[in-house]
Amino acid sequence: MSRSFPRRCLALAPRLIPARASARYAALALSTATGALGGYYYAQSKPIITPPQRYGSKSDFDNAIQELRAAFSDPHAVSTEAGTLLAHGFSMNDYHPGVPHTVVVFANSTEDVVQVVKIANKYKLPVVPFSGGTSLEGNFRAFPGGSICVSLAGMDNILEIHEADGDLVCQAGARWMDINAALKEKGIPLFFPLDPGPDATIGGMISTGCSGTNAVRYGTARAEWFLNVTVVLPSGEVIKTRRRARKSSAGFDLTKLFIGAEGTLGIVTEATLRLAPLLDTTVAICQFPTAARAVEAVREVLTSGAVLQCVELVDPDFIRASNLHGVSTRKYPEQDSIFFKFQGSDAIMKETSKQVRQIVQKYGATGWHLASNKQEASDLWDDRKNGLYTSLALIPGARGWSTDVCVPMSRLPEIIAETQLDIKEAGITSTIVGHVGDGNFHTLLLFRDDKELEVVRGLVHRMVERALALDGTCTGEHGVGLGKRKYLYEELGVGTVDLMKAIKKTIDPHNLFNPGKLYPDDISDQGKKL
Ligand SMILES: Cc1cc2nc3c(=O)[nH]c(=O)nc-3n(C[C@H](O)[C@H](O)[C@H](O)COP(=O)(O)OP(=O)(O)OC[C@H]3O[C@@H](n4cnc5c(N)ncnc54)[C@H](O)[C@@H]3O)c2cc1C
Ligand SMILES: *[C@@H]1O[C@H](CO)[C@@H](O)[C@H](O)[C@H]1NC(C)=O
Ligand SMILES: *[C@@H]1O[C@H](CO)[C@@H](O)[C@H](O)[C@H]1NC(C)=O
Repeated sequence: MSRSFPRRCLALAPRLIPARASARYAALALSTATGALGGYYYAQSKPIITPPQRYGSKSDFDNAIQELRAAFSDPHAVSTEAGTLLAHGFSMNDYHPGVPHTVVVFANSTEDVVQVVKIANKYKLPVVPFSGGTSLEGNFRAFPGGSICVSLAGMDNILEIHEADGDLVCQAGARWMDINAALKEKGIPLFFPLDPGPDATIGGMISTGCSGTNAVRYGTARAEWFLNVTVVLPSGEVIKTRRRARKSSAGFDLTKLFIGAEGTLGIVTEATLRLAPLLDTTVAICQFPTAARAVEAVREVLTSGAVLQCVELVDPDFIRASNLHGVSTRKYPEQDSIFFKFQGSDAIMKETSKQVRQIVQKYGATGWHLASNKQEASDLWDDRKNGLYTSLALIPGARGWSTDVCVPMSRLPEIIAETQLDIKEAGITSTIVGHVGDGNFHTLLLFRDDKELEVVRGLVHRMVERALALDGTCTGEHGVGLGKRKYLYEELGVGTVDLMKAIKKTIDPHNLFNPGKLYPDDISDQGKKL
């Protein structure tokens, strides 16, 4: 058991960053991981969902495991090793209690997934897909009454690259960073612009409806980046949602049905991705007197039509964490700051930088710094993307509750100001990062024990309530998982949630796929009752 967490964390770190920086992040991840093992560990709270009795019994699980072992000749395909079971039902990156799965199957093809689903169907056992394991709302937690976890992490092949069509076909376990690295290595000037957590995979990205820093320029998983997906349904049937043509108006959009479904409707095994032209980029950073002023500046920058790829707000504690644990050699003033990423030719980037600098100065920006070379730009960006890990390291041994909400852009200054005040008054160590061009921001709230966890729970709840009151959403990009289920009725309305449930019931009548996630149990299961 203790072996598995550091390995997962270590696996996260080195892929992300250039070789010279990776040792540092690996050490950071390791110290955070071992700190958490010795400190605030898992399973303190009671399980959030009660297992209904309609699933198979313990002996059904035993029989299913036997059949799974018989179905796959490779002795490593089916694991009941304690460390593996927990590592697939737990995450160092979130606050949910860990629950081990009953068995983990390492699939390598659509056919492997079909076999698992057929056996699960025979014995009526819950199935939870797992790909990158980076999601933050308990999305892949085991079902408390027992579950079969299907790992697609090994299904990471790129199957076809169609440069002339600007698309690519891959397996669901392919990581977005590896896809972009492979395109670069082959000298193909295209990239896939959705950028959630380092190590996230296409299957998980589709299933959480992810986005990331590039969303202000390229949109989210809900834009048309997924052209066609191959899906194994709860019955074991395999479908495709479309063909490879870039456009189609043949019926309604079934690809979208699986976007944000969190593995509750089907297991994605392959996907055709649309690619975007790869452009040169550079990064600038500046500081503001307050976060609210920063967001006001961004609003004017966006309406000016400046060519931005990303615009990210970070708070003083984030800068403190990066200064302590990041890769950039240059240290930055601990103030509310904005990272800008510009794209295009050198001339365009220079012009944009000038234009943006003039605008932000009107809002009290200071310390404007444009990366002087590619390495500096990439280090700065790595520091932004690694914020979760550098922030967790602010208190060795602490766990973190990362939450995200999204509001209409004009309401962002007030919700950020109120949230900052609330956190300060609660005396909790935290960092704030925001994809502010989309009105989306995150807080990472650190806690060391049950008492602090309860304070953090209250902070998160109030942040969501504020967002809903401002016509916003309880989750801009992390998805619902276990953590946000209780807000869906309030946010979407009874008719909408019940329509989601009706679709779920039609596709998965025995509620086998990722039960207990996404759909609130009933109308009484609401945020107000927290
Ligand atoms: C450091 C860090 C930064 C992050 N930044 C962002 C960010 O900027 N934007 C953002 O959106 N998210 C962010 N995240 C969250 C996370 O990266 C995303 O939620 C991501 O989309 C999850 O992908 P995954 O492959 O890790 O999925 P997993 O965690 O493996 O799974 C996610 C969900 O999808 C289901 N699932 C997995 N694979 C499949 C499949 N093949 N078919 C059907 N269902 C499946 C799982 O059961 C689970 O419910 C961040 C996370 C970390 C750790
Ligand atoms: C898939 O491949 C991995 C790595 O080779 C192997 O460990 C695993 O057992 C394989 N799974 C199946 C179902 O054959
Ligand atoms: C997409 O559609 C084609 C049929 O035109 C199908 O062969 C393919 O497997 C589908 N899936 C993916 C992921 O492209």
